Amino acid sequence: MHRDSLVVTPLNEAPFGCSVSLPSYCKNDPAYLNNEDFSALYDAVHKYLVVVIPDQAELTPKSQYILTKRFDPTIPEQPNEDGTGGAGAAYGHGKEFRHTQSVLRKDGCSVKSQPQVQILGQGHFKVGEPGNENDEALNLTHPSHTTFHHSPLTNEQIKEGKQTRFYRWHIDSALYDLSPPVVTSLLGIKVPPTTHYQTIKYEDEGEAAGGSESESESKSKFELKLTQGATCFVSGAQAFQGLSNEDKEFVLNTIVEYAPHPYIFISSAKATSDGLTMVSEDKELKLDELPPWEASKVKKLPMVWTNPVTKEDHLQVHGCCLYKLHTKNEDGSIKTLDLKESREKVHKLMRPAIAPERVLAHSWKQGDLVLFFNRGVWHSVTGEFKGLGNNGADERRLMHQCNIASFKDPAILHN
Ligand SMILES: [Fe+2]
Repeated sequence: MHRDSLVVTPLNEAPFGCSVSLPSYCKNDPAYLNNEDFSALYDAVHKYLVVVIPDQAELTPKSQYILTKRFDPTIPEQPNEDGTGGAGAAYGHGKEFRHTQSVLRKDGCSVKSQPQVQILGQGHFKVGEPGNENDEALNLTHPSHTTFHHSPLTNEQIKEGKQTRFYRWHIDSALYDLSPPVVTSLLGIKVPPTTHYQTIKYEDEGEAAGGSESESESKSKFELKLTQGATCFVSGAQAFQGLSNEDKEFVLNTIVEYAPHPYIFISSAKATSDGLTMVSEDKELKLDELPPWEASKVKKLPMVWTNPVTKEDHLQVHGCCLYKLHTKNEDGSIKTLDLKESREKVHKLMRPAIAPERVLAHSWKQGDLVLFFNRGVWHSVTGEFKGLGNNGADERRLMHQCNIASFKDPAILHN
């Protein structure tokens, strides 16, 4: 007899990822999974890295929060109303998230009844529209690379050429004081039609291209076609596996030091055209120009984080927020690379992993709930929303995103 349990199906023609159908007893709410089925979902998130649960447009912010928090037992319970009890669960970016100088300040607002859930998207949403339970209208702006990249695409390339870019490859994390969330959940409540395509051109193809490939072979190597607003993921495990033995040694022995308040630190700097790191032009804020910070809260994390389920090593670096690299040599001495050198080194290590065939570009359908192992993938926003679809009428989008700062840093488990 068919057992009523979670079913995991690997994604077709994708470098990783799976979809999941829920058992009937939880009545389409994954917050109600029993321990056995949650354990299967936990394993799927760690093994497949990106998990899609379709048909979740009605999922409440509370259920999304409960489900997301369940992946990380280090998160304490909510405090009691009188302030006693557990420390409570903080949104993954903490309170500097909306700092006026932070590069993240425009990226959304909180659900008032469940502040660990953020509302992201594009366009105007009236009070009471699906996904807007707050008692005020929302004006959401989808991040565009044009405000973040050093040399953005021209209007013509965007409008006529239908081009976009990887906005910023990243791990969801404050990278100061708080530990990176284990899992992020992203729910597409209102999404644009999947019939609008945009293209990412890999602009460094000249450096990497060689030999006698046919034009179409070469094109597929340096172009990625994706639906408007697709969220892109790459596997940190595949990134690690693709390194030379020498580079593996380097990353296994390197600590990444992040800047204090890193999103404020980089607020005047601009990113490379692939969204992997920042261009070094001395535009960063000086450390004494930042809001108050403490040396003990600066994040120093290994460059490789071991997956606790598969035991695979993942190359996990936030290339835009790093400050220095510290590498332990064979003789035990430490070599430190400065900001510019660190960015160049990390860019070399990370660039092969974003090749088109390695990218999982999730094309959003209404109601998709995507859970991803934030400590095992890097992800990026894509898509330009500039009145392209039906003069902007088809471009409205509303997502709920949840991740919660962990109380334990990621680590290399077997060294
Ligand atoms: Fe993110």
